[in-house]
Amino acid sequence: MEYEYRSGLGWDSHRTAIGRPMILGGVTVPSEFGLDGHSDADILLHAITDALLGALALGDIGMHFPDTDSRWRGSESMQFLLHAHSLIADQGFEIVNLDTTVILERPKLKDYRLTIRENIAGRLGIDLDRVSVKFKTAEKVGPVGEGKSAEAQAMVLLRKAV
Ligand code: C5P
Ligand code: MG
Repeated sequence: MEYEYRSGLGWDSHRTAIGRPMILGGVTVPSEFGLDGHSDADILLHAITDALLGALALGDIGMHFPDTDSRWRGSESMQFLLHAHSLIADQGFEIVNLDTTVILERPKLKDYRLTIRENIAGRLGIDLDRVSVKFKTAEKVGPVGEGKSAEAQAMVLLRKAV
């Protein structure tokens, strides 16, 4: 079987905020603070969504889901990811693998890695071993290190049988 391959890159950042939930990969993790944003501020799903869109040069998340549009206020970001996934599937592509990093000073997230991976893999209908989620601190340096914000990065490889 011959395949055409495409890779995509995504990044996102949101401020931390008291009184907001911390939702990562669609999973609410226990935390004394959360992430601020127009939607549910799920930086991980936003980065993955941009990686999928980027792989096929379909623009970015803000183009498909403008934060000026009240339809998306408080939206579950899984809705954005599933829409991007349907766009790539419509073009005959499937995900080979996803690799991601969440950069957040605290809380420690490693105990939630499997739940987050299972949620993303389950919703996308792909094998668990194709979804990687890594966590890093920023070593107390910069806005992330000072706990003012959090970031996520994602890379995706897509393939289509030709
Ligand atoms: O950033 P640093 O290299 O110190 O992170 C060490 C490990 O701590 C990471 O590999 C990750 O497994 C874990 N970690 C975590 N939650 C974070 C940041 C890091 O579980 N918010
Ligand atoms: Mg975002």
